[in-house]
Amino acid sequence: MRKIKIFDTTLRDGEQMAGVGMNIADKVRVAGVLAKLRVDFIEAGFPASSVNDRKAVEHISQLVTGCTVVALARANREDIRIAAEALQKAPRKRIHVFIAASDLHLEYKLRITREECLERIRDSVSYACSLVDEVQFAAEDASRADPEFLCMAYQTAVDAGACCINVPDTVGYSTPGEFGGLIAMLSKRIKAKDRQIDIGVHCHNDLGLAVANTLAAIENGATQADCTVNGIGERAGNAALEELVMALKVRSSVYGCETDIDTTMLSKASKTVSAVSGIYVPWNKAIVGKNAFAHESGIHQHGVLANRNTYEIISPQMVGIRESSIILGRLSGHHAFEEKLAELDLHPEPSVAETAFARFKDLACRKKDVSDEDIRALVEEAMIDSNVVNGYELDTFQTQSGNRVKAMALVSLSRCGTTYSEAATGEGPIDSSFNAINRIVGKEFKLINYSIKALTGGTDALGEVRVRISDGEQEYLGKGVSTDIIASSIKAYVNAINRALFAGA
Ligand code: KIV
Ligand code: ZN
Repeated sequence: MRKIKIFDTTLRDGEQMAGVGMNIADKVRVAGVLAKLRVDFIEAGFPASSVNDRKAVEHISQLVTGCTVVALARANREDIRIAAEALQKAPRKRIHVFIAASDLHLEYKLRITREECLERIRDSVSYACSLVDEVQFAAEDASRADPEFLCMAYQTAVDAGACCINVPDTVGYSTPGEFGGLIAMLSKRIKAKDRQIDIGVHCHNDLGLAVANTLAAIENGATQADCTVNGIGERAGNAALEELVMALKVRSSVYGCETDIDTTMLSKASKTVSAVSGIYVPWNKAIVGKNAFAHESGIHQHGVLANRNTYEIISPQMVGIRESSIILGRLSGHHAFEEKLAELDLHPEPSVAETAFARFKDLACRKKDVSDEDIRALVEEAMIDSNVVNGYELDTFQTQSGNRVKAMALVSLSRCGTTYSEAATGEGPIDSSFNAINRIVGKEFKLINYSIKALTGGTDALGEVRVRISDGEQEYLGKGVSTDIIASSIKAYVNAINRALFAGA
């Protein structure tokens, strides 16, 4: 079996996705899960792009063991210096240098000639090699570049010391046959005199072909694959890690390749990334969607009962989905709650577990069945609240709304022992509540995104609200859960404001 190295870019390309904005604590949390997943590389960010990215790379470099930490840099000395500095504490460091190689990008974006491009590659890759253990070079928009020039660009990078050439299908334009052919050509022509080099691929999903293109590249000699958990990333996203890894595993007889990924961590990784990114996983998403192992039609159910292999090519256990064995209810105590957390592979700090337990007890008094999804949401909520020091908390609220009635809300929030109350009108009870909260905090936040999801069936289900707000400069995610959807909305909005005002970026 040939080993394929998994290069995870959830925290860099994934984080660039519109609507996603992870803070440092979020990124560190995802990095922990990626390390447990046993990815080979964690691309932790693009340090020259923002202070946040730089700090995130620094934190992750200090905490992560067992895999190489990577920082992205444009092909210039300043970006590379900043990247190397951010990686300083990483046990093993790699800089991912990139510059565009297609004529379209050279002419319209960079306004440089091909010769200038080659010179930038030579200088930046050799400079990066002088600062860190390993350098990987990507020629952006490679799939639309002139193949001859592409070979020159990659050979220049290898001659300057790069240990890996990364071939991006930046705009997801390629097809499996075409992309496989490109990789076959590059693996034949790009050589280092004294060492083996890796060929990595970085496929975007604009035509829904990212995983297919990555697999075609692997069949044609690629040794490393860029991917993101849940396939998040620029525009339509990147190749989904879980899909790629499971395709290689389930069809190993076809591909003859393996990865080091612990597939039983895939479900957890997906849930964590969804929670911190705010991006829900579609029900029908391969491997990690809610319906991926659900059999609806009678014929299918009959088949699965007779022999699971009739309609199931992967067992839920393989990706870490376990049968629930502990049922929590009104009378469950600390011990059962802790057992449930362990069963769900949730390991919050003791103070977070305590808060979640108190919220569980409160919920269990009002709701007959407390599901695993409910517990997960309560823990997530307690976890994001714990990142905030001395933030606002919902005290009480009252709303009025109805047909031909002006909507209004009276909201009281407490902070450091003081209660603040304001009333406001609006288009409905939620708009009114948010207006009242803006008055309390003395700042206008703009709501960019609002979504609500019932975590289970039943009219007493927990409603989880996710909001994304902007203070004009940066966007912040907030989440709240309650059986009352106005309460979840207020909690989510307050949570996002706390992250903006008190949690650091
Ligand atoms: O899509 C792309 O080309 C990239 C590069 C920076 C590798 O993300
Ligand atoms: Zn990309």
